[in-house]
Amino acid sequence: MIESIVDRENMINEYQNDLNKKIEALKEIEQLKEDFVATLTHDLKVPIIAEKNMLQFLLESRFDELTERQREVIVRIQNSNKELIELVEIILETYKLNETNIILNKERIDVNNVVETVIDEMRPIADANAQKINFSSEYDDFINADKFYIKRVLKNIILNGLSFTESGGTIDIETESDVNTVKIKITNYGKSIDENEIEHIFDKYYSSAKKFRKIGTGLGLYLSNKIIDAHKGKIEVVSEKDSKTTFIVLLNK
Ligand SMILES: Nc1ncnc2c1ncn2[C@@H]1O[C@H](COP(=O)(O)OP(=O)(O)O)[C@@H](O)[C@H]1O
Ligand SMILES: [Mg+2]
Repeated sequence: MIESIVDRENMINEYQNDLNKKIEALKEIEQLKEDFVATLTHDLKVPIIAEKNMLQFLLESRFDELTERQREVIVRIQNSNKELIELVEIILETYKLNETNIILNKERIDVNNVVETVIDEMRPIADANAQKINFSSEYDDFINADKFYIKRVLKNIILNGLSFTESGGTIDIETESDVNTVKIKITNYGKSIDENEIEHIFDKYYSSAKKFRKIGTGLGLYLSNKIIDAHKGKIEVVSEKDSKTTFIVLLNK
């Protein structure tokens, strides 16, 4: 009796060891894959940035005068180049965060000023699809936050909003402030997110992009959530069926 119990225990231990080894091997493969993607993405960044510079030179007529038609085409290429750079940066920053925790470089920042800067940076992408970005604010305020990371979050949410907005459509951005918190609200119209989908959108790699034949990594909201978490803030999502979706970034003052 006792012998068979001991045997069984040995067997269970062996299974456990075997399982642990397999888990370790899987983790190693996962790490290798992530390293591969990070290295590849990093290498991709170099030619993409070189292209960005060349396109800028072309638009400045450094090589020759451009016809109106040529200029239009180059502006289009410049915009897709810009989207590509955003994509590459989201991937690189996400993998960087896997290695080290987020180290915040906090400074006193003017919320409306940061929002306006991001909108200016995103405007060419919106223009390419004749989309409008409206901004309104009742009250401006300052917060202690990492400007670089907050900009990353806003860019991610705005890019998502634009990609779910049809050509010629509009997204609305509002800032609000109360005693303890500042809210940045980004709303896009038309498409909504199903209730049972909302709980997944912050998951690593979750993306419905493929469904809509768009480019997406599913890293944007995952990264954004991590950044806002590190600031002890919150991202809320309110989506009304077939009407609109609002992402609300809440940050403490
Ligand atoms: N404004 C939005 N409207 C509708 N769905 C959204 C919106 N923002 C995000 N989502 C959903 O959340 C998913 C994850 O977003 P994200 O992490 O930025 O990844 P990606 O943009 O690469 O797909 C999107 O694929 C989409 O399904
Ligand atoms: Mg995205």
